[in-house]
Amino acid sequence: MKDTYYWFGEDRTPSNDPKKRYVACYSSQDLVHWKFRNQVLKQSDPDHLGNWILERPKVFYNKVSKVSHKFVMYMHLDGPGYKLARVAIAVSDQVDGDYTYVRSFRPLDHESRDIGQFIDDDGAAYLIFKSRPTGGFFIGKLSDDYMSVEREASFVHAPLEGGALVHYQGLYYLIGSHLTGWAPNPNVYATAKSLEGPWTEFKDIAPPETKTYSSQSSMLIKVIGEKATTVIYVGDRWKPKALWDSRYIWMPLEIGGGATILPEPKPWSLDVRSGKSSILSAK
Ligand code: DGJ
Repeated sequence: MKDTYYWFGEDRTPSNDPKKRYVACYSSQDLVHWKFRNQVLKQSDPDHLGNWILERPKVFYNKVSKVSHKFVMYMHLDGPGYKLARVAIAVSDQVDGDYTYVRSFRPLDHESRDIGQFIDDDGAAYLIFKSRPTGGFFIGKLSDDYMSVEREASFVHAPLEGGALVHYQGLYYLIGSHLTGWAPNPNVYATAKSLEGPWTEFKDIAPPETKTYSSQSSMLIKVIGEKATTVIYVGDRWKPKALWDSRYIWMPLEIGGGATILPEPKPWSLDVRSGKSSILSAK
């Protein structure tokens, strides 16, 4: 539906069948109130992996009229010890329909973990993935039908993960987290005029002692309204002992002129129509 936001995430509800992995979908008109739509993926072990892992689902909508599938979901697929390092794809013709598993692969033949998603202003779709042996991470362009990763747009030689990207006022801003497992760390950002780079040095997005206010970069949502544009930082707050109960922080970034800062999390409001956001001051 037009003017509707859809949010996909790992569904680790404790009552789920422990042999399957689940993705849930929610929708919202205002990015504030969310409605549960469907458990869009209820997947059995696709590659006989044993204790297998499905993380960070991302759904791409293909606007091209003649494609075989409108919605293509990318997921990090892994096995015991995170040794497999692949992505899997599943497809559906309806955004919140039941997705059908297609296959798994290593994008551009590289190990791939902790994937991120980016749609550029021209509609081109990209997968961001960490590749440990290379000491960095990739921004890979998807093929026209979104069923594969076609070419390397950028290789960022920095040992980071949880890559999140936004194009704002002519600059690409790339945020990443250091590699400290489920524990938060001081996340950093770099900018570039082109997706291909060159990227600037990485700088902190928040006072380092706050460890990104106890969060890990996950994605950046650009809300373009009639009067303003707000870029929302979405960060995971993992609970490694109860992953199913992990939370997020959503905060508007201070962004522009080649710099970005994540303000201290506080209640704030957003008007998706105007695109304006404001921090609510305690009275
Ligand atoms: C490994 C990372 O180190 C963690 O921070 C977290 O992103 C997990 N992967 C799950 O995605």
